[in-house]
Amino acid sequence: MSINPIPVIAIDGPSASGKGTVAQLVAEKLGYHYLDSGALYRIIALAAFEQNVDWQAEQAIATLIPQLNIKFEHGEIYLNDSNVSEKIRTEQMGQGASKVAAHPLVRLALVDLQHSFRKAPGLVADGRDMATVIFPDAKTKIFLTASAEVRAERRYKQLINKGLEADYQAILKDLQDRDARDSQRSVAPLQQAHDASLLETSQLNIEEAVNSALQAIPANLQ
Ligand code: DC
Repeated sequence: MSINPIPVIAIDGPSASGKGTVAQLVAEKLGYHYLDSGALYRIIALAAFEQNVDWQAEQAIATLIPQLNIKFEHGEIYLNDSNVSEKIRTEQMGQGASKVAAHPLVRLALVDLQHSFRKAPGLVADGRDMATVIFPDAKTKIFLTASAEVRAERRYKQLINKGLEADYQAILKDLQDRDARDSQRSVAPLQQAHDASLLETSQLNIEEAVNSALQAIPANLQ
């Protein structure tokens, strides 16, 4: 296998751990590209939902994927030229994403697309299997996590700040269900890579988490 010289920083972790925010800020700081792999699974869940394809129908969803025109442009996400940035962020699409992501054929259909984000000068990729499966040769691997209670609290505050209704216990239960599904599936389960550094953010704010992530990245990549 040839060596790809373009550096990748892989940041994996559970739902609502803040890894997306940290990964985006690290990418900005380094001037690297950014891959939000969770958004891909959310787009697949949305496309299946809109075409009345059951989230359990592995083959039908895998067949759907090559027909989708997915674009990331200026921080916005497009599916078949429609801006779906907001639509894919609902709790319902989060649960759907976690269900479609458990299918091996769906994961396989997204491998090349994820690799195509690896462009000079480098890539920061966030997800569940960035370090273990998609970019096992990543130069830096970070497993970013926080307790389920802290993650539920953060999500609860986000919703309240947006003026939306929120139920802390329901959010906690949803997160725990999603953690269980993402960690227990047979293919590419959420797990810390053996060569990843653990970044526990329960006691950290965003700035502190970004600084800790940057400390894990060798100076020659910054
Ligand atoms: O990071 P997120 O919450 O947007 O991800 C949504 C779901 O997609 C998550 O519950 C599991 C799945 N996912 C995955 O299986 N592999 C990834 N690399 C990213 C996300």
